[in-house]
Amino acid sequence: MALFISFEGGEGSGKSTQAALLAERLRETGRRVSHLREPGSTGLGNYLRHWLKSNDRSMTHEAELFLFTAARAELVRRVVKPALRDGEIVVCDRYADSTTAYQGYGRGLPLAAVRAANHLAAGGVWPDVTFLLDGAPHALLMRARAQAALYDERDAADRERDGWQRAQDGGEERFERAPLAFHERVRAGYLRLAEEEPERWRVLDAAQGAGLIAEQVWDEVARLEARAGAASVAGERLPGM
Ligand code: TYD
Repeated sequence: MALFISFEGGEGSGKSTQAALLAERLRETGRRVSHLREPGSTGLGNYLRHWLKSNDRSMTHEAELFLFTAARAELVRRVVKPALRDGEIVVCDRYADSTTAYQGYGRGLPLAAVRAANHLAAGGVWPDVTFLLDGAPHALLMRARAQAALYDERDAADRERDGWQRAQDGGEERFERAPLAFHERVRAGYLRLAEEEPERWRVLDAAQGAGLIAEQVWDEVARLEARAGAASVAGERLPGM
């Protein structure tokens, strides 16, 4: 049964871990799963990812908005829609809400413009459920930096084995080094989005242990699957923005 699940959150929130755990568990129980990340998961998406993640390539906020949404336009039409039509479960590590939170609330671009760009890029494809891993930015950033330092201590072979992208992504990352106030705005933006559309969002405390969060995610997905027909519309529903 087709289902579109996205994970959102600030830097170091642990959402990538949760997306991976969910995708793995779904596969283990026999479901067909596409595990995607944004930006990425297409040729153009991966190319743009290198640009976007690297801190040493400056660009205007408007250009940033268009690059993220360009990556999404490709992903939706080439990967997400076909997978949903094929009855797969799509697990996406970030989606259009990241653009609203980061480029809209974080960068301060007009929300109406961000909404319009998202609307065009998403082409009517909106998640059935979005998990927000919420936490205080200073705590999450400290955790992210501690993890990064840990990675730095490993040798190159280890990193390669882990598929760790930081080296190729160009060292310091665009958003991790942004001022704390930026991350506070991103968090507030996410919480606002969750408040505006409570039927789609599930807000989880990112400070909990990963195992505990994974169980909450699993329970929710099971509930969603049990709800008849939850998904068949995922490919055609109008965006909730
Ligand atoms: P990523 O490695 O996915 O970061 P994280 O590990 O925090 O998920 O890198 C993506 C970065 O791009 C992340 O800092 C959030 C940002 N971003 C936006 O600003 N707008 C967007 O639309 C998307 C998808 C990501």
